[in-house]
Amino acid sequence: MIAIKTENLTKRYGSLTAVDGLSLSIDEGELFSLLGVNGAGKTTTIKMLTCLSAPTSGDGYIMGKSITRDTQKVKSLIAVSPQETAVAKALSVRENLEFICGVHGFERARREHKIAELVRLMSLESIIERKAGKLSGGWQRRLSIAMALISEPQVLFLDEPTLGLDVIARSELWDIIRALKGKVTIILTTHYMEEAEALSDRIGIMRDGRLLVCDTAAGIRKMANTDSFEQAFVTIVKGAAR
Ligand SMILES: Nc1ncnc2c1ncn2[C@@H]1O[C@H](COP(=O)(O)OP(=O)(O)O)[C@@H](O)[C@H]1O
Ligand SMILES: [Mg+2]
Repeated sequence: MIAIKTENLTKRYGSLTAVDGLSLSIDEGELFSLLGVNGAGKTTTIKMLTCLSAPTSGDGYIMGKSITRDTQKVKSLIAVSPQETAVAKALSVRENLEFICGVHGFERARREHKIAELVRLMSLESIIERKAGKLSGGWQRRLSIAMALISEPQVLFLDEPTLGLDVIARSELWDIIRALKGKVTIILTTHYMEEAEALSDRIGIMRDGRLLVCDTAAGIRKMANTDSFEQAFVTIVKGAAR
C-alpha cells in the first residue's frame, strides 16, 4: 500500500518557488529521507503534507486522502515532530505527555497505559519528572517524538530531528528512529548525508525545490559512480543544471 503520494506538489512564495512540481510515492512502513542543503524546500514539503500550508498547485495524498480536500482526515492519520521542537518548557516530561493525551481526549487508564508504553519505547524513565526546558536538545527531541507518537499516527514526520545535536545524542536518536522503523511510515528531513544513508530505505535529494533523484543510498552511489554517498550527493547537487 502507498502511504504518501504527491503529484506536482508546488509552493510559491511570491516569485520564489520553494517546492517545484514534486512527484513521489512512499510505501507504507518505509523510512524515506528528504535530503538537501538549507533552503532546498524540505520543511515546506512537510508543511504541505501535514496541512499546515496549502499548496499553490498540485496535490498530495496520505493513505489515499487528499491534503487539500480531506484535511481533517489527513490530520488524524499523521503526526509531526517539527524542526523547532514543540515541547512546553515549563512542564515536566510527564506533564507534556499528559497534556497531549488530554488533547486527544484519552481517559485516565488509556493515558497511563500510553505514557508507560512511550516512556519505555523512548527510554524516558530517568527524566520523566524533569522540566522539559532544562533538558538537553537530544532529550527534548526524544520527548517531542514521544508526544508525536501518542495519537498512534500511521505516518510520522521528523523535520531535521538531529539538528544541533552532539555526536552521541545523534547516535542515540538514530537508535530510537531505527526502533520505530517498520512500525510507522516515517518521513525524515535532514541535511546530514550520513544520517540519510544510515537510516533510510530510500532517499530523495532536493535542491531549489526540485527532486533531483529518488533511490536507495546504494542506487544513488551507483548512479554517481562512487563508493562514497557524500561524494554522490555533491556530484548530484552540483551537477544538476540550475
Ligand atoms: N513563509 C515563507 N515565506 C517566504 N519564503 C519562504 C517561507 N518559508 C520558506 N521560504 C523559502 O522557501 C525556500 C525553502 O525553504 P525551506 O522549505 O524551509 O527549506 P529547507 O527546510 O530545505 O531548509 C527557502 O528559500 C526559504 O527562504
Ligand atoms: Mg527546514
